[in-house]
Amino acid sequence: MSGQTKFLLQESQMPKAWYNLQADLPKPLPAVLHPGTHQPVGPDDLAPLFPMELILQEVSTEREIEIPEPVREIYQLWRPAPLFRAHRLEKALGTPAKILYKYEGVSPAGSHKPNTAIPQAFYNKQAGVKRLTTETGAGQWGTSLSFAGSLFDLEVLVFQVRVSYDQKPYRRAVMETYGARCLPSPSTETQYGRSVLAQRPDHPGSLGIAISEAVELAVQRDDTKYALGSVLNHVLLHQTVIGLEAMEQMQMADAWPDVVVGCTGGGSNFAGIAFPFIGHGLRGGPKPRIVAVEPAACPSLTRGKYAYDYGDTGHMTPLTKMHTLGSTFTPPGFHAGGLRYHGMAPMVSHAKELGLMEAVAYTQNQCFEAGVLFARSEGIVPAPEANHAVKGAIEEALRCKREGKSETILFGLCGHGHFDMAAYQKYFAGELKEESYDEKELAMALSGLPSVAEPA
Ligand SMILES: Cc1ncc(COP(=O)(O)O)c(C=O)c1O
Repeated sequence: MSGQTKFLLQESQMPKAWYNLQADLPKPLPAVLHPGTHQPVGPDDLAPLFPMELILQEVSTEREIEIPEPVREIYQLWRPAPLFRAHRLEKALGTPAKILYKYEGVSPAGSHKPNTAIPQAFYNKQAGVKRLTTETGAGQWGTSLSFAGSLFDLEVLVFQVRVSYDQKPYRRAVMETYGARCLPSPSTETQYGRSVLAQRPDHPGSLGIAISEAVELAVQRDDTKYALGSVLNHVLLHQTVIGLEAMEQMQMADAWPDVVVGCTGGGSNFAGIAFPFIGHGLRGGPKPRIVAVEPAACPSLTRGKYAYDYGDTGHMTPLTKMHTLGSTFTPPGFHAGGLRYHGMAPMVSHAKELGLMEAVAYTQNQCFEAGVLFARSEGIVPAPEANHAVKGAIEEALRCKREGKSETILFGLCGHGHFDMAAYQKYFAGELKEESYDEKELAMALSGLPSVAEPA
């Protein structure tokens, strides 16, 4: 492998199509079920929420789906994104492993989320939609959809999980700069939000609640649709530009990963970097180990049940089979707000069940420690979510050191942490609590999973 540090592609080398893992899966995904009838949903059932182009992508089994030219043009504001070799981190760890990372913090919003916000806004605009509603945890997704809305002249209404809304006031300011409206969730603007507040006025919120609020408003008006920043197949699909570019860049680096690492909240940046490599392996190419890293305080992949569950707390979304902690579970208010989701993308969950990937969980102090070491060696301050991937990559590099192996580790650095400095300050002050979930609440949430007769 070359001693080079940075691997850059030309604009002309940016992927022209997204990669759809559904085409290569050895077993198809379980059906998506209607929340009322528990029968498989068809495209028309999803039409109140999403434009038809996105619904068709959701169910497509085509391997390649063309990226529309107007989307490619906007992607060029920051894509192709750089791939770096972390020479200084390798040295700091004293590892024989080679560590490379794909950096998505170069986007205008500071994370991977615009990779799907732009096409979602594009297809909605094309379908004549005027307004989008959405949820956001860390604020990265809300920022990205607000940015996309401003480019396509769409009104955007963001429900931000209350604890993140309070932790990160500047995220809201960015959303408003792009022209969006941002409300803390649970809010008084929806029936569901009011019902949650009636039971617990100081509720910290959760992504599941914010999704219910955004969905409730979307179905009330014909000119409004809902946009989701993770979990769904079409969202994961759009993120595959990350892995497709990384494959080209690994070739430039004259290397191929033995391990691919990504953090998982709903699973989209992880799928973005990992799915193209999984698919390549399924089609006869080399099969790197694929490692998802999640927070120990919200461990859907490592501690959740693989079962049919709702995507939201108010039970308005369809039922999907996924690793879940139960839709009523409220994760504790730790600082990786984007990873506080009760479920995992059905396609990531399915890949885990098929043995195509592994998952590990770390606590927030472990992840911040890794992020600080990364910042001091590589210069980039990672988002708290991305710190989970950094921690996962460091653990792999230390394993290589113990085993005397010079493996190649690729990880996704999905965003920068410039709006998360209050969390870093708390970490330095020793005030970052090791949040552990409430076992009783988790057991209750899991016992409340819907009983569903699985379609044959
Ligand atoms: C920087 C960052 N990384 C990761 C995530 C988690 O989402 P996903 O698992 O869909 O990538 C978020 C979500 O908000 C995020 O902001």
